[in-house]
Amino acid sequence: MAEKKVKVGLVGFGTVGCGVAKLITEEADAIAAKTSLRLELACVVDIDTQSPRLVKLADGILTNDINRLLDDDTIQIGVELVGGTDAAKQIQLKLLEAGKDVVTANKALLAEYGNELMHCAHKNGRCIAFEASCAGGIPIISGIRTGLAANEIRAMYGIVNGTCNYILSNMTSKNEDFPEALSQAQKLGYAEADPTLDINGGDSAHKLAILASIAFGYEIALDDIFVEGIESISKDDICYGGEMGYCLKLLAIGQKASLAARDSSHGLQSTSHEARVTRHEAREKISLRVHPSFIAKDNRLASVDGSFNAVSIFGSAVGQVMYYGRGAGMMPTASAIVADIIDVALGNSATTFRHLCLKPRNQTAALIEKIDNLVTRFYIRLMAKDQPGVFAQVGKVLAENAISISGALQHEGQGPDNTVPVVVTTHPTRQSKVTAALENLDKLDTICSRPVCIRIVDIPEDKEG
Ligand code: NDP
Ligand code: HSE
Repeated sequence: MAEKKVKVGLVGFGTVGCGVAKLITEEADAIAAKTSLRLELACVVDIDTQSPRLVKLADGILTNDINRLLDDDTIQIGVELVGGTDAAKQIQLKLLEAGKDVVTANKALLAEYGNELMHCAHKNGRCIAFEASCAGGIPIISGIRTGLAANEIRAMYGIVNGTCNYILSNMTSKNEDFPEALSQAQKLGYAEADPTLDINGGDSAHKLAILASIAFGYEIALDDIFVEGIESISKDDICYGGEMGYCLKLLAIGQKASLAARDSSHGLQSTSHEARVTRHEAREKISLRVHPSFIAKDNRLASVDGSFNAVSIFGSAVGQVMYYGRGAGMMPTASAIVADIIDVALGNSATTFRHLCLKPRNQTAALIEKIDNLVTRFYIRLMAKDQPGVFAQVGKVLAENAISISGALQHEGQGPDNTVPVVVTTHPTRQSKVTAALENLDKLDTICSRPVCIRIVDIPEDKEG
């Protein structure tokens, strides 16, 4: 078959941009052999054309003038790798209006302005491809859209931020402190330009908004997602949770609430009324949340370490499917970008883009479950005065809020000022009850610092037999 030449323009020559330039230049022959497409990097735009880069471009390719890309009608595809939501949005709109298809890894922009950008693309008869926006090199978006197309997706549990997973893994296995692990993740090119978005859970929420909209077929707003980051996680809690059989991960969870109620009914014998009420209220609802989560050490997601990402998806026909791979970094992300460039050039992206049907917000907003109604298990750590009656007081507050203790741990004389860490885990309980109990615990004279509370997520596992 005769080769078809495909000219590509790139905006943003940073970590991922360099990876894309490297792949296109070094793998052009291999890609042509597989696809009959001859990719050519025709133009690279960056505000900084002076700093040394990891990849050397041919003379005349690098420019700080985006009009060179916009005005060149021979360039069919524009790749936006600038990041952020201000300049990047204008760049994508200009590319679409100039008649170019857009490839991007910019989850922040898609999560916030996706509808507007999609509208602009449709209006101009173009498409936007965004495989690299979620879970780096893992083909998760095409996996859900194509591979799982026959399924009703019931739940997804994802480790989708490489920086946070790297930090938590290093705090767990190498006993590193938070700042040390973060600085290493930044050096390795995993973190966002502003790493606040990584550690406060914002980046995972952006990815969940994209993945959940595709999986559930809903338009999803960022406000629909409950978000808690890992900023205040301490090594002590990782350690105590570890002793109780748990591993700490930042999870992005999208769950049909009917499933949430069913899972959470494990061990609810003493509050079966609550289970029934929850099941009834939960029908049709979707729970979307990002938060630090204790998961069983023998769950498959617990072994996902470092910058690796994984998403466990439960489909109505397929059962459990798990996607695993490198979720951040120059070459894994470039792999997904170049796959999208190829898909756009082959015409596949235009077809999938045209057929992406999302229920509009006015039909779906009321179906998002409030976090207060979440029923899950909890890990609670209190720094308590080491004196008689404290455990009884704690038990009383929990009992008054109908919270049933499932496990407890106390180490002798570990805390400062004659305090001891008292850890309890609960049976499935409604979030609102735990919030009320934590307020009451905080008021006790014998509790010396704000209680720490981390959700325990019992992820079902599809097992043989
Ligand atoms: P970088 O900050 O490394 O690169 C961005 C580049 O764009 C920089 O060279 C920057 O220049 C340049 N730039 C900024 N503003 C403009 C502008 N207005 N016009 C032209 N160039 C501009 O970011 P990454 O490569 O890490 O990330 C790019 C995108 O990919 C982001 O959306 C990010 O979220 C996403 N992503 C990143 C992953 C990763 O592992 N790094 C993984 C998955 C997605 P200067 O440095 O001078 O500001
Ligand atoms: N900062 C992101 C992460 C990059 O750490 O996962 C990949 O999207």
